[in-house]
Amino acid sequence: MNTLCLPPTPDALQKAAMILRDGGLVAFPTETVYGLGANALNAAAVAGIFKAKDRPQDNPLIVHISQREQALPLCHVSGTAQRLMDMFFPGPLTLLMKKKAIVPDITTAGLDSVGIRMPSHPAARAMLETVQLPIAAPSANRSGKPSPTTAAHVLSDMAGRIPLILDGGACQVGVESTVLDVTGDIPMILRPGGVTREMLLTVLQKVDVAPSVLAPLKEGERALSPGMRYKHYAPEGALTLVDGAHQDVMAALAACYDKAKLDGKRAAIFAFLEDKPFLGERYVLSLGSRRRPEEMAGRLFALLRQMDEEKITAIFSVVVDTRDIGLAIMNRLGRAAGFHLINAQEVLE
Ligand code: TXA
Ligand code: MG
Repeated sequence: MNTLCLPPTPDALQKAAMILRDGGLVAFPTETVYGLGANALNAAAVAGIFKAKDRPQDNPLIVHISQREQALPLCHVSGTAQRLMDMFFPGPLTLLMKKKAIVPDITTAGLDSVGIRMPSHPAARAMLETVQLPIAAPSANRSGKPSPTTAAHVLSDMAGRIPLILDGGACQVGVESTVLDVTGDIPMILRPGGVTREMLLTVLQKVDVAPSVLAPLKEGERALSPGMRYKHYAPEGALTLVDGAHQDVMAALAACYDKAKLDGKRAAIFAFLEDKPFLGERYVLSLGSRRRPEEMAGRLFALLRQMDEEKITAIFSVVVDTRDIGLAIMNRLGRAAGFHLINAQEVLE
């Protein structure tokens, strides 16, 4: 199959809508990451997503809509959910609600809840408006790879597997949407993202954060979100996170890097722009300015892909504070590192 990559012109949007109505797949940009869409109400079409991604069948998909009312036939919308939709839709928030029968089991991997999200990216909205169907879409990467934040990333994973990619440039947020379960008494963040805990607390009394957000699942522990079980975002090389006082972290990053080089590894450091002077001539990939963590969120997945392309085998990274978007960054970094976090002091002893 030839994979077309087109800017989201009216013609391309019509083509996308035709493919989707016929049960085919289209990759499209959102403000978070690129999605791989199919008609959420067509079980055969949704099966195509799992096949193209090599995605385990027990990992449910998010259903994308272009208007809040489109959620009503799909799921039971509580008062709390309605308030959250009024405040944060469109935007990087997915709400898990009790599903209605119209949503096929394959879309939700047999669960009785469905994730609903209304993206804000103009191309995503234009596509959803044109096709007039709810669109199931996971991130458009091959399973196990970092989510794609450019059309080139999608092409590198999906060439020959899907007919069309809408190219809307680089995604602005850069990490996937916040997944918030609102089926229980206290809403719970299963995956942190662009709509932060602090933002949710402007509307909600209380928000829980699933333990798996900042720690690996324990043996035998049930994953609240099936996606949490899988190896994810992981680069081929080993990623190690280094925590501690700034001066110690700089010294520890340098020491770890130098040792890895001595051991014959291809090494790299993830650090902020302001950290570069502390790290000399070592191979440092910039996460942007420490004062703008959103920049780091935007760059992270592209850097992880770059590591694979450059066949880097040892990566050492600074960590960030878990306030605001920092929680999403530490969740993705932690998972990419298999939660391998060391203290700078220990390295320096
Ligand atoms: O920003 C995003 O959310 C992107 C764009 C394309 O919208 N989509 C995305 O989808 O990241 P995906 O499939 O890569 O991640 C969805 C996550 C998975 O971890 C999945 O297990 C979880 O949400 N999820 C979806 N529906 C769920 C449900 N009903 N119950 C529990 N977890 C669910
Ligand atoms: Mg994904």
